[in-house]
Amino acid sequence: MFRTLYAKLAAVLLVLLCTLGLLYGAFNLYATRIFLQELTQRFNHDLARQLLVQRNLANRRLLDEKQVKAIFSDYMRINPAIEIYLLDRNGNIVAFEAPEKKIKRRRVDMAPIRRFLGGDTRYPILGDDPRDAARRKVFSAAPYPLHGPPRQYLYVVLNGENYDNMEALLKNSYYLQVSSAAVIGGILVGLLAGLYAFNLLTRRLHRLTGLMERFRRSDFRRYDSYSGAVLPQQLIDQGDEIDVLGATFDEMAGKIIAQVHSLEQKDSLRRNLVANVSHDLRTPLASLQGYLETLLLKEGLEAQQQRHYLEIAFGQSERLTRLVSELFELSKLEAQEAQPQCEALALEELAQDAVQHFRLRAQQQGVTLQIQRSGAIPFVRGDIAMLNRVLENMIDNALRHTHSGGVVTIELEPCELGVEVCVANPGKGITPEQLVHVWERFYQSPDLRQGNGAGLGLAIVKRIIELHGGTLSVSSEQAGITRFCFTVPLWRRNH
Ligand SMILES: Nc1ncnc2c1ncn2[C@@H]1O[C@H](COP(=O)(O)OP(=O)(O)OP(=O)(O)O)[C@@H](O)[C@H]1O
Ligand SMILES: [Mg+2]
Repeated sequence: MFRTLYAKLAAVLLVLLCTLGLLYGAFNLYATRIFLQELTQRFNHDLARQLLVQRNLANRRLLDEKQVKAIFSDYMRINPAIEIYLLDRNGNIVAFEAPEKKIKRRRVDMAPIRRFLGGDTRYPILGDDPRDAARRKVFSAAPYPLHGPPRQYLYVVLNGENYDNMEALLKNSYYLQVSSAAVIGGILVGLLAGLYAFNLLTRRLHRLTGLMERFRRSDFRRYDSYSGAVLPQQLIDQGDEIDVLGATFDEMAGKIIAQVHSLEQKDSLRRNLVANVSHDLRTPLASLQGYLETLLLKEGLEAQQQRHYLEIAFGQSERLTRLVSELFELSKLEAQEAQPQCEALALEELAQDAVQHFRLRAQQQGVTLQIQRSGAIPFVRGDIAMLNRVLENMIDNALRHTHSGGVVTIELEPCELGVEVCVANPGKGITPEQLVHVWERFYQSPDLRQGNGAGLGLAIVKRIIELHGGTLSVSSEQAGITRFCFTVPLWRRNH
């Protein structure tokens, strides 16, 4: 029942208000009792003296016990709220009008009486009650005789029973009843106001808890924002603790969802990779094994045939080597282990080196390799080895898809971002359906699946250019020019 914060706060408030109410009530009762005692003593201050004066007793030597008893009896009949006693100088009760067994003490303390007679007005001054050994009550007192050294004292206990019983006091006092009702009313109003305020405060917490609960149930995939249309940062700057909590949670949830998504993506990529790698490794391995087996088992093969088989086996092992090293390179790039070591770079020189590298192969294929540049090519910011790899991959592809007599052109041109490099070659071209897949790892055009490549070259190119902050593009005409382009940012001195 008390699981919600709201219920707990409400219970605490209720207990607090009730405690306060009870404390206030008790204090009020106590103060009223004191106040009534004070009033009674103040109003009846001269009662004892008046009694002596009215009865004309003021001038006798000693009061006669019988005489005073008769007076006491008269007065106490008129006003039953008083009890009159005659004391000697030491406080011993000399005369009283009451059944003998009702008197519980024979002597009263003189100190409060002396205080009273000495003019101390800090009322109520409480004196002993002869009828109750434990209680003390307000009183009026007068010395006898009124003038001269006192020989006896008239001691009047006021309002004997009325203030002792709190219940009776509460029952009889209209003031106390009204103030008790006011306290109870105050508690109720305070409780309602508190509950409303707590509701306002906990409503947002309640919402946040709901959001988190739904987020948890969705397996950390779906989340409705707490901040809504407001920016989380704005809430963090301007909101209270709950807002900061909500906005922070918004950010956290966003990051968790992105992480989960990226983990899932990475996982599926990894699974694809393993499947593709095992497939791509198995094919050349099987072929290599097949030819070597034939060589081992078949005796009497002609030398020319043996050489042919060995050449094929060698080709497959080359393909394997290339596949493994490309895979290694790509996984290093993707794990961000290989970061570009950037420096100022002249792309034109890089292109010339690459052309030099491929010159022999191009000649053998009967293909012309050329560089074309428009305007002055500025320095770019890049990693020489990595960008060299990009160019080599593209030129390798271009040579592979250019028929004899074709011309492969490396075009260099300054652009908005930096420098654009394109490798263009004539050939069969790439269909638009294939074009969207060329950057994917392991993608090869269907007619090439059995060829030399692994389908990783352009995936490596893409990763390298991304690491450089450059862009990539490709265009291809059927039986026309295919052009692969990339841009590299300019070199700036303050990089
Ligand atoms: N210049 C081009 N002309 C036509 N098709 C191309 C050209 N360059 C790439 N392609 C197509 O894109 C595919 C992917 O190229 P990528 O360089 O990634 O792999 P690959 O060259 O087959 O193998 P690898 O580069 O790993 O040895 C190629 O298989 C080919 O189908
Ligand atoms: Mg390639």
